[in-house]
Amino acid sequence: MALSLSKFMTGNTQPVPSAKRARHVGIIMDGNGRWATRRGMPRSMGHRAGVEALRRTIEAAPSVGIEVLTVFAFSTENWKRPKPEVDFIMNLLVEYCRREIDKLNEAGVRLNALGRIDEMPEPQRSEIRRAVELTAGNDRLTVNLAVNYGGRAELVDAFKAMAVKLQAGELDPSAIDEALLGEHLYTKGLPDIDMVIRTAGEMRLSNFLLWQSSYSEIYVSDIAWPDFNGEHLARALESFGRRERRFGGLVEE
Ligand code: FPP
Repeated sequence: MALSLSKFMTGNTQPVPSAKRARHVGIIMDGNGRWATRRGMPRSMGHRAGVEALRRTIEAAPSVGIEVLTVFAFSTENWKRPKPEVDFIMNLLVEYCRREIDKLNEAGVRLNALGRIDEMPEPQRSEIRRAVELTAGNDRLTVNLAVNYGGRAELVDAFKAMAVKLQAGELDPSAIDEALLGEHLYTKGLPDIDMVIRTAGEMRLSNFLLWQSSYSEIYVSDIAWPDFNGEHLARALESFGRRERRFGGLVEE
C-alpha cells in the first residue's frame, strides 16, 4: 500500500538552517537480506520491504532540508549474486518505475539514474529512461537511483570521455582539473555528497560515490534498511548538524 506523499504537496516542511544543512545525502541501503532471514523469510522479501523504506525516506527528505538524495540500489558488483535474486531486484526496479513514477512526479520529485544505464537489460533500461524523462522538469527533490553503479566504473567512464576529447583535439591536458573531471561524472551539476548514511552496521563505502564523498560525513546506523524511516533520517541529519567540517583546513574561532 502506497504511503501518502501529501507532505510534499502541501509544502508542510520546516526550514533547516543552511550552514548545517546536508544538501546532498547518499544512502547505502544495506541489510535487506539479513532483515528477511531473521524473520524466516526469503531474502527477496527484504528487498521488497526495502522499496517501502525508500518510499518513506523520499517522503521525509525535503522536511530535513535535503535537495538531492542518492540511493545505492544495485552495484556493478551485485550481478555476482545468484540469478534469482538479481532477477527479483531487476523486476522490482521495473515495478518501482511503473508504480511510483506518477506519484513522484506529482510530488515534484525529479528521478535520475546514476550508473551504466546503457548496459542495463530491457525493459529496465527503457523504464528508467522513461521515468527520468517524465520527471526531468521537477525541482522539489532530486532522487538519484544508483543502478549498475560503481564508483570506480564511474571514474573510468569519466577518464574515457575526457580521453576521447583529448584525442579529438577538443581538450588540452592543462585544462584537466577537479572541476572538469566533475563535469564528466554521472553527478554532473550536483553538489558533492555532504553525508553518506549506511544502514545495517557495516562500516565501509562499497564503491559508492568515491569522488563525490571525499569530504562526506559518514553515518552508520544499525537499523536494517527495511526498518529505516523518516525519524532515523532526521536523527542522521541531526548528527550532521553537530559535525565540525573542516575540509582539510582549520575551524575559525
Ligand atoms: C542491500 O541489502 C540491498 C541491495 C543490494 C538492493 C537494494 C534494493 C532495494 C533497497 C530495493 C529498492 C530498490 C529498487 C529496485 C527501487 P543486502 O541484500 O546486501 O542485505 P544483506 O547485507 O543483509 O545481505
